[in-house]
Amino acid sequence: MRIGFVGLGTMGEPIANNLRKAGHDITVWNRTPSRAEHIVSKGGKLARTPRECAAGKDLVFTCLADEKALDAVLDGPEGVLAGLTEGDVLVDLSTAGVRAAKVASEKVSKRGARFLACPILGSKSAAEQAQIVLVAGGPGPARERARPALHAISARLFEVDEPEKAALMKLVVNAVGGAMLTAFGEAVALGAAGGLEPWRIVEVLQASSFHSPLYLMKGELIEKKDYAPRFKISLAEKDQRLAQEAAAELGAKVPINEAVRRMFAAAVEAGRGEKDVAAVADLCLEWAKKE
Ligand SMILES: NC(=O)c1ccc[n+]([C@@H]2O[C@H](COP(=O)([O-])OP(=O)(O)OC[C@H]3O[C@@H](n4cnc5c(N)ncnc54)[C@H](OP(=O)(O)O)[C@@H]3O)[C@@H](O)[C@H]2O)c1
Repeated sequence: MRIGFVGLGTMGEPIANNLRKAGHDITVWNRTPSRAEHIVSKGGKLARTPRECAAGKDLVFTCLADEKALDAVLDGPEGVLAGLTEGDVLVDLSTAGVRAAKVASEKVSKRGARFLACPILGSKSAAEQAQIVLVAGGPGPARERARPALHAISARLFEVDEPEKAALMKLVVNAVGGAMLTAFGEAVALGAAGGLEPWRIVEVLQASSFHSPLYLMKGELIEKKDYAPRFKISLAEKDQRLAQEAAAELGAKVPINEAVRRMFAAAVEAGRGEKDVAAVADLCLEWAKKE
């Protein structure tokens, strides 16, 4: 397949690379061109603009930070939309929220093309190993076209009939993940304030019925104070904001989500926005020492 791929960040770069490894003819574009160097050195083609990246492809992917980044690459004379023609399929892997899925779907339809919102579940290492989980939402024929490529980059593919439902599913799952992460960070700091070592807390927690691979993964990073970004706190805050926007639109009450967002926002304000979500624990540890 001829594939265009826009957005080579933490997740986009390894995913695009897996499409290349699966034998697809891949053309890439990224706002910061240096992030395309690796894939181009392995035979990927470099487009000069998002429009050029999207034009004449069997499938076009976007994998961007948020809804603003998505608009920035879709719109304008050199945007992705300008490169799409009748029958093309655009797959957006970003977590951009329910409203953005609706808006993007409408914009793509106006070009005679079809849109799939296809948010990712999973970490950077899952992306590298083609072990992410995907939720693809959109028209059946578009899902059919995208399916072989989506299988090549994921361990599991769920499908729903509307982009908005896929976008909402991602926000729902991340609302649970955000609550787990913030509660874990806070609890580790509480234990540490009373002399319990983080690794010991994780050991006992993992023996309980509340165990999760998330605590093992993030517990190890907290122990090593390794906060290099696998999933940035700024993106986690954005996910909770998008969940709140969806809740407001749907008339759902989400008080826990509000508290979780405040925790991530506090971490961003404390200068940790570009660090891994595990660094929420670092903030709680700092608070615990102060108080
Ligand atoms: N990391 C994870 O574990 C994870 C897991 C599941 C889902 N997600 C979601 O997947 C998406 C990508 O995440 P990521 O971790 O790959 O993020 P990232 O490393 O921050 O990469 C973001 C990408 O968006 C681009 N971008 C941002 N603003 C832009 C703008 N105004 N115009 C054009 N391009 C712009 C960046 O370009 P530059 O390189 O120029 O900055 C980069 O390619 C996000 O929606 C995230 O919430 C992430």
